[in-house]
Amino acid sequence: MIDLISDNYSMLQGLGAFGIRLGFGDKTVEEVCREQGVDSYTFLTVVNFLINGYVPKETDDKISVRTLLGYLKASHRYFLDFQLPAIRKKLEESLNPNDNLATLILRLYDEYAHDISVHMKYEEKTLFPYVEALLMGDQKPNYNVDIFSKHHSDTTGKFHEVKNIIIKYLPHDGLANNQLTDTLYDIYNNEEWLCNHSNVEEVLFVPAIRILEKQLKHDDVSARISNIINNVDGSEISEREKEIIVCLVQGMSNKEIANHLFISINTVITHRRNIVRKLQIHSLAGLTIYAIANNLIDQKLFTQQN
Ligand SMILES: [Fe+2]
Ligand SMILES: [Fe+2]
Repeated sequence: MIDLISDNYSMLQGLGAFGIRLGFGDKTVEEVCREQGVDSYTFLTVVNFLINGYVPKETDDKISVRTLLGYLKASHRYFLDFQLPAIRKKLEESLNPNDNLATLILRLYDEYAHDISVHMKYEEKTLFPYVEALLMGDQKPNYNVDIFSKHHSDTTGKFHEVKNIIIKYLPHDGLANNQLTDTLYDIYNNEEWLCNHSNVEEVLFVPAIRILEKQLKHDDVSARISNIINNVDGSEISEREKEIIVCLVQGMSNKEIANHLFISINTVITHRRNIVRKLQIHSLAGLTIYAIANNLIDQKLFTQQN
């Protein structure tokens, strides 16, 4: 781990967001992650992406959405609660309060801080709770990650502007010049950090959520099929109802069923209503699956007939 950080000291910010504490001695990345409860595969994927630009396959389902979510949330806190106010303070200290241009720069910075705060809070109010629900197996019907991705914008615009104005137009003198240069370094660093943050969201987080959505959809279909196969109402399907199901699956009308079983059409209708209530199956295809799964009809014979 120490080699990784020594070679890429920018990773220090990322360590905190992953919840990795310093003081890990000579332990390997794997050991540190295991000890501190961090998914090492996801950690290394993020590191590899940020340092080497390595982009995993869109189908990489080993990336932990939970770990990435925690990382992004902590990154937001780091940026909103620590970095933005810290730069504001440094900027204020390094600018001449009597200079009109300085006031404008501070105002531009505040606008920028506001924009970025709105951007991050939007994610915290919409995307993050959506992902938390997904992780609990609950998929909201009117939202998906593509809606988020379509509207996810670049937030570095005004930061860029603040930096350019300082470099191009602000007269520097003496000590203030050093302070301002130092603040500029911070602004550059944070612009890069923010760009990386946004890229992690787009390139790693969004595809990982997409995979989770697909898995849940698949599980949902499986659950529905399992409900069809197993009686969801819990009430027993009577022998007569089973006979009706077989007739229905064979394509018989109510009248044909009535004649075939020597009962009235009204009785057939009542049985059908009870079957729907007990099984919660409303389609012939669903009834067919139920009949095959419960050996009411022979699948081979049925396939030949159809
Ligand atoms: Fe974000
Ligand atoms: Fe974002």
